[in-house]
Amino acid sequence: MTEMEEALKLRFGDDVPELTEDLSNSDFPAALAARRSHRDFKPDPVDPELVRALCALALCAPSKSDLQQRDIVILDNAGQRAKLLEIIPGNSWMDTAPAFLVFCANNRRQRQLSEWREIPFANDHIDTFFNASVDAGIALATFMMAAEAIGLGCCPVSAIRNEAEKVSDLLNMPAHVFPIAGLALGWPAKEGRISMRLPLAATVHTDHFSENGISENIRAYDRRRAEAQPFSYQRGADRFGEVEEYGWSDDKARQYAVPERVDFGAFIRAKGFNLS
Ligand SMILES: Cc1cc2nc3c(=O)[nH]c(=O)nc-3n(C[C@H](O)[C@H](O)[C@H](O)COP(=O)(O)O)c2cc1C
Repeated sequence: MTEMEEALKLRFGDDVPELTEDLSNSDFPAALAARRSHRDFKPDPVDPELVRALCALALCAPSKSDLQQRDIVILDNAGQRAKLLEIIPGNSWMDTAPAFLVFCANNRRQRQLSEWREIPFANDHIDTFFNASVDAGIALATFMMAAEAIGLGCCPVSAIRNEAEKVSDLLNMPAHVFPIAGLALGWPAKEGRISMRLPLAATVHTDHFSENGISENIRAYDRRRAEAQPFSYQRGADRFGEVEEYGWSDDKARQYAVPERVDFGAFIRAKGFNLS
């Protein structure tokens, strides 16, 4: 079995597609199959020019209608980094990252174009928020792929949205510009590990969306994952008790029993978006 096949099997279980020769003979898909997030970095710096080059590559990603509604803020100043950490305590691992960036959605520029050209902006509805968010997400993923391709490690940080308003103020983001996620970047100090994924039977559909066998598939995934990569503790045990077989579905259900970012909608509205 090739390394790529091994990685895919570990992630998805037995239901992995057969790999064609063109996939097998290419380094990038194999690296993608084995990718993982990194939260522990060597102290070695990442050359600022390299970070800018990776930003350029990230912004080569496609963009809805060529609107280019995403920007990147590189946190270069140590004081800014420290302030960001203060805003989101409990993420001290981020301290070890030699570089940190914030990906943001920017629908402001589009509105400015309309203003400058004295043309009505006729799309003040939720799609603008959505399109800018998707553009920023794609740029984030593309940045990661480029960085990982040269051995850098990254971890996105949506925890910055726990305090979206404070982060936005810290970074001087105006109306219609908001943070999507941070990105910790550096040379990995540890190997890390491939994280397992739901089976393709649950997540890839043909011709129409289907939930056939969904709960069995998820239970099987729970068991497979509990065997190979058990959770180190049972979340919310004081509230939900301890169960014998604790799997991904238990963990995610328990995670979302606690309200998270309930004020995010209000923040986005305050940024000037009409979410209807
Ligand atoms: C949009 C986004 C936000 C994330 N936010 C955080 C975060 O705030 N803190 C964190 O430790 N990991 C964060 N992650 C990393 C995920 O936890 C990680 O991708 C997931 O556990 C799967 O692991 P893998 O990336 O190694 O495959 C985020 C990932 C994404 C895509």
